[in-house]
Amino acid sequence: MKNDFLGRSLSVINDLTVDEQIFLYKQAQRLKEKWKNKEDLSKFQIKTDTGIYIVFLEPSTRTKESFVNAAKFHKNAKINIFESEHSSFNKKESYVDTFNMLTGYSDYSIFIIRSKLEGTCKLLDEKVSDFASRHNLPSPSFINAGDGKHEHPTQEILDEFTFLEQMNFNNDYIHIALIGDLLHGRTVHSKVDGLRIFKNVEVDLVAPNELQMPTHYISKMKQKGYNVRIFNSIEEYLKQNKKAKVWYFTRLQLERMGEDVLEKEHILRKSVTFAKDFLSLLPQDVKFYHPLPRHKTFPTIPTFLDSLPVNGWEKQAINGYWTRIILLSMFGGALNAPFDTSKKSIKINEEDFVVAAPIKDGRKGVLTEGKRGIKPIENGTVIDHIAKGHSPEKIYETIMKIRKILMFYNIDSADGIFKSADGNYKGYISLPDVHLSKKQIKKLSAISPNTTVNIIKNGRVKEKYRISLPPIIYGFEELMCKNENCITNPKNDENVHVSFIRNEDNQLICEYCETAHTFEEIWSL
Ligand code: CP
Repeated sequence: MKNDFLGRSLSVINDLTVDEQIFLYKQAQRLKEKWKNKEDLSKFQIKTDTGIYIVFLEPSTRTKESFVNAAKFHKNAKINIFESEHSSFNKKESYVDTFNMLTGYSDYSIFIIRSKLEGTCKLLDEKVSDFASRHNLPSPSFINAGDGKHEHPTQEILDEFTFLEQMNFNNDYIHIALIGDLLHGRTVHSKVDGLRIFKNVEVDLVAPNELQMPTHYISKMKQKGYNVRIFNSIEEYLKQNKKAKVWYFTRLQLERMGEDVLEKEHILRKSVTFAKDFLSLLPQDVKFYHPLPRHKTFPTIPTFLDSLPVNGWEKQAINGYWTRIILLSMFGGALNAPFDTSKKSIKINEEDFVVAAPIKDGRKGVLTEGKRGIKPIENGTVIDHIAKGHSPEKIYETIMKIRKILMFYNIDSADGIFKSADGNYKGYISLPDVHLSKKQIKKLSAISPNTTVNIIKNGRVKEKYRISLPPIIYGFEELMCKNENCITNPKNDENVHVSFIRNEDNQLICEYCETAHTFEEIWSL
């Protein structure tokens, strides 16, 4: 059993289990108490030669400076503030090559990275460990200090710690309102998983439609058992009686918005900005939080609130220092947990998407199609029910896509579109003397789910499989995440292959940036 956190990474908040997060919050509470009582804090300090690299490729005040100060708390650590503008990034060096090199410069390294590219820490966590093992070095830790509009897990840690402080560390229940730009705000996206530390969760999403939380995050919250309500503005929210005592504001991320949304900036901003007339409608003991920075001209939490008891955001920002010290204590090996800390991998049943189907009459099967014009085949494969129920144009498009991705260019074969007995159109591809490999069937399931594969031997259907969307799709060069800011997108030249996980709504979620795709959107061809 492993009890330390050496080599663990934090790309998304879910990389720490609920027990691990609660362990971190209890340690941060102890550290703060000991500091207040002027007690010895050395047990929290990293003991070994550890290089802490602080790599900020996007602007930051709080996250960067609180990490710099948290790193200085660890007196034995070597602190390196990486100057990206003077680095070989400017000579088009890849992220993987850069971090491979840096890993060689300390016995053990912790990298803290803020980047515009989403999924960077996950990719580096996977790739740099190969470099480390080639050189007998321990795998380094990567900490995501905010990646594009994806996640900001260390902000999530300080937020949850602050909420717990408000509730005297009782994690039975939280009722929280998330207000502002819920579409682009990575800190509110991290709440979907971060709020799991509470046993019962009620979330009110307060944002106009244009800035509302992406639907796959809302589904995820509901699947976790959160009670979710949606409101278009603070004004609408205050008209009802069940108001949260935790209000979490975010700024409008204008830098990430398109022209169409920017045109409505004024109206959108008004709907999520607190106004003086709202004060009398607030519940007792409510606290306002904000990851900060506030916009200095148009803050969603205006400055007249600074000196009122609702101000929770200043203490929240200071908590960034304490919680980041503890995160470094954990990843630097100074704090061990009283439970197993080994990284848990998700088990996915690869077989459940290729299901053997009964063969009604071996002599018939595909041969019945022959009556309508195809030459029956003696041996080979018939892919049937392609895009069933769609228009003939869509079916044709799917057939062409299958041919292209599975490279059936120069195979003697036949395609067709038929009307089924139930009146729906469907497509088929007949491949004489071709037997699809398991990998090809898997690929086909991701190109055209809900298709049937018939294996024909000596003029009979010997095997028949119904295929559906696989739970995980990986290992194919033609896959592409549609998000141009994803580290895996070919535009970013990292030369890595993306992978997708199917969610309960049959959306395919990029494993790196967590953008949701339909099965039709994951192919670059
Ligand atoms: N909350 C936050 O991430 O602030 P900075 O961008 O200043 O780091």
